[in-house]
Amino acid sequence: MSTIVSSWNDFDPLKHVIVGRADNTCISPSEPASKAKVPLDSPMRGMTGPRTLDTVEKANVQLDSLVKLLESRGVKVDRPTPIQFNQAVVTPNFMTGSMFGCMPPRDVLLTVGNEILAAPMSFRARYFEYLAYWPLMRQYFDEDKNFRFEQAPRPELGDNSYDMAYFDDHITEDILLERTAKLHMVTKEYEILFDAADILRMGKDLFCQHGLTTNRKAMEYLRRHFPNHRIHAVNFPGDPYPIHIDATFVPLRPGLIINNPTRKLPEPQRKIFEANGWEIHDAALSAHTEPPALCYSSVWLSMNCLVLDHKTVIVEESEKAQCEQMDKLGMNVLPLAFRDAYPFGGGLHCATADVHREGTCEDYFPKQVPGTRIDL
Ligand code: ALA
Repeated sequence: MSTIVSSWNDFDPLKHVIVGRADNTCISPSEPASKAKVPLDSPMRGMTGPRTLDTVEKANVQLDSLVKLLESRGVKVDRPTPIQFNQAVVTPNFMTGSMFGCMPPRDVLLTVGNEILAAPMSFRARYFEYLAYWPLMRQYFDEDKNFRFEQAPRPELGDNSYDMAYFDDHITEDILLERTAKLHMVTKEYEILFDAADILRMGKDLFCQHGLTTNRKAMEYLRRHFPNHRIHAVNFPGDPYPIHIDATFVPLRPGLIINNPTRKLPEPQRKIFEANGWEIHDAALSAHTEPPALCYSSVWLSMNCLVLDHKTVIVEESEKAQCEQMDKLGMNVLPLAFRDAYPFGGGLHCATADVHREGTCEDYFPKQVPGTRIDL
């Protein structure tokens, strides 16, 4: 039996990856956590139901072209098995009218070394989304005797899990900015909640974004679950919808990170990067002023790139300034059209989940300083 699952970071040479599919994706009904995710002025507010076939087909064309590009670079690609997402989710604690989809595996699957940990996500509509990945997980389990196939404690997602008064008729983006800067999120500390895409893997250190989808209890869970790792809490004031770290703080190779210039890492939290000689550059501005129609994410998906190795990165092709910046930073940029896929769950990083990258668990931060560590 050979090793199938092994990945410790987002930049070592990529060998095997899961790329999502757009099939059957729904705009799920409003619920306590998704109200936070859908921007206040989005036409998606109040909208629900399956996405139209023509948009699904266009997204799949771009997802398939990502697969072709990866395969042409020698990367093995697996795909999830879409289920009928247009069905209600009913548990003893809640019910909601539909599921979501399986375009963004990054949100669900956290790969740490030889383990893939399915996340306890805060969206009710996403409660059973892991099922789309279970055929692959079973296969890896059968074929790799060291693969640790894990599931974080299933959350209740009843009304106790959320600040049910977070969204009222008077909410504005300024109020959201004030609250998120003060770490007042819609998700409470009642139970462990996180999306895998809030966790930045850098060898021995896991940097977790405290935001609307990941709470502090999740970080304490990760500390106990990964006892050989160091768990850090980061947050990015300036983002009214702090959800997923990969359009905010993105490493390109050891020692180099790009940070969203409107969502800067606070000074005390920069210390660990500075103490260990990491450079943090402001990311280039997006080429766009608006995300595509019916998209959950912001224009900052411009930063949501997929690093193939320390010198190669896939970037959305219309993001000329971002491509140019990465080129100047010494990366070989592979541009790829991907905006039709954005509304289905994000950019190039969101649409993938690591199975195997070369390399081992390195210590990139031998000088640990207070500021981010949850236990220091
Ligand atoms: N929440 C991230 C953004 O929209 C993906 O910027």
